[in-house]
Amino acid sequence: CGIIGFTGNLDATEVMLNGLSELEYRGYDSAGIAFFQNDAIRTIKTTGKVSNLIEKVVSSVDKDTTCGIGHTRWATHGGVSDTNCHPHTFGKVTLIHNGIIENYHELEKEFAKESKFPVSQTDSEIAAMVIDSLYTGDAYEALRKASDILDGAYGFCILFHDQPGVIYAIRNGSPLVACQSEQGSIIASDMVALIKYSKDYFVLPEHHIAKLDGSQIEVTALDGTVVEPKILHVDWDITSAKKGGYPHYMLKEIHEQPDALHNTITPRVKNGMLDFKEDGIADDVFTDINRVIIIGCGTAMHAGLIGKVMFEKLLRIPVTVEIASEFRYNDPILDKNTLVITISQSGETADTLAALRLSKEAGCKTLSIVNVKGSSIARESDYVFYTHAGPEIAVASTKAYMVQLSSIYMIAFKFAMLRGTISKETCEDYLKQLQDTINAVATTIDLDKQIEKISECLTSVEDLFFIGRGLDYPLSCEGSIKLKEISYIHSEAYAAGELKHGTLSLVTDDVPVIALATQEKVYSKMISNIREVRARGAMVILITNGEMPVDDDLCAHHIVLPKTDDQFAPFTAAVVLQLIAYYTSVHRGLNVDQPRNLAKSVTVE
Ligand code: G6P
Repeated sequence: CGIIGFTGNLDATEVMLNGLSELEYRGYDSAGIAFFQNDAIRTIKTTGKVSNLIEKVVSSVDKDTTCGIGHTRWATHGGVSDTNCHPHTFGKVTLIHNGIIENYHELEKEFAKESKFPVSQTDSEIAAMVIDSLYTGDAYEALRKASDILDGAYGFCILFHDQPGVIYAIRNGSPLVACQSEQGSIIASDMVALIKYSKDYFVLPEHHIAKLDGSQIEVTALDGTVVEPKILHVDWDITSAKKGGYPHYMLKEIHEQPDALHNTITPRVKNGMLDFKEDGIADDVFTDINRVIIIGCGTAMHAGLIGKVMFEKLLRIPVTVEIASEFRYNDPILDKNTLVITISQSGETADTLAALRLSKEAGCKTLSIVNVKGSSIARESDYVFYTHAGPEIAVASTKAYMVQLSSIYMIAFKFAMLRGTISKETCEDYLKQLQDTINAVATTIDLDKQIEKISECLTSVEDLFFIGRGLDYPLSCEGSIKLKEISYIHSEAYAAGELKHGTLSLVTDDVPVIALATQEKVYSKMISNIREVRARGAMVILITNGEMPVDDDLCAHHIVLPKTDDQFAPFTAAVVLQLIAYYTSVHRGLNVDQPRNLAKSVTVE
């Protein structure tokens, strides 16, 4: 969910609605605001997009409020309905919430005994009931006590009805960032909503309370100690978070990939060699490490799958890749000789964060690859390797994945050299090739029109397979998730050699196959696998690394990537997969940037 609060001398409805429009990618099934008007609270909410809310507000609100809170929802507890929209009010409390209150059902039963009943089906309204029941005029006391009672994750912004002009916020798990200026103070779930007002901001520390009053923000620990938060600075501006003439954020972000790669790689190259000094990553990170576990969710986890292949090949250390939500409950075997690498664009994904914490408790060394500065995962890891993709707004991740790959490669090159599993010359050569890949990615983006045309043949498809071997298999996983996310076509990624062990039965002339054949070592094997699906009638879209011998009847479409060394083909091939997903979604007339049921940043388990 996206949350925002503003108090100051600007029109608060405008600040909130602008902020919610920026935050909409975090959740978009309903939206609402609540604000003080003549010292009373007024709430406006509606299902659907923020644009629906804007219409409703514009037609009914005069510009006479300077303090309010707003929310754009990604439903967890309770379906999408007007009553379940935030803000929620109970008694003297109106709040918005990002997160999940896990013990809401028990709390609800307790309230029922007192004949107090919520009107919605949300856990958030129960939180409002809890805070209201503890409020006797001292907000700090109520919030401190509430934090003992509420289990789960939360970022709340709260209006107490008898404190006009003041917003309280508290967090546990779910992110909240804030900034203050002469015009007022503002708090939100991420920086895109603040950057219009300030490039300097701070992250509200967990288990802390922020009180926003005019242009003042006071941060206190739960025991009442006043805390001076650490001010951070963003190095991108508001235009980076706009569409900039592209029809969709996703297309813009695909086109930004050469720049994102450049920004991520170049600062780490000194005299032709990798240098991580500015990252604070010591040369001994891999010393005494006999095992690496890479953890993430969704696309970030898929970057980890590529990481496994590269790390094992270059570092000769066993690597496993874990889905964060499974890892944390599977009683993993961890020790101090295990290096845990978490990968996350947002740095806030709840399961990845929990997996990181578990690993730290078990004594593992931790390193994270994160895009958002100062995010929870970045803060809590022993070492952080920041990617510099800038803000990624489309729900389907593209440029963040690309820079995650480049980070993995740089880490693999550098530490393989330090471990002596590759020579200094090889490391330099690989680094040079990685830098050259930036141009190859740009050239691949120029295949845009060809891919737009080819994607037309997928418009009415219902099922599809991605197949590949070696690095092409994890890449197939990424191609498949991208397509599913935004085109709603059911697809599966299969290791090409595994298809015949059962799943080939699903391949018919209605089921296209996207075959990635970028790895020369297994090229002839891939051709045999493609023959197997061709023999069952599948229409094949073939992707090769440079021109390769291809028989006329092998595929309906052939996409030729600019030739790179095979180990760099994931960078170029990923672009093709992104564009296939993008254009298929466009041809099907869908909402590319905000696919149904999904959200960009999942800060709940
Ligand atoms: C959500 C997004 C995915 C993303 C995943 C992990 O599910 O829709 O695109 O890959 O979260 O997000 P993270 O911020 O941890 O990379």
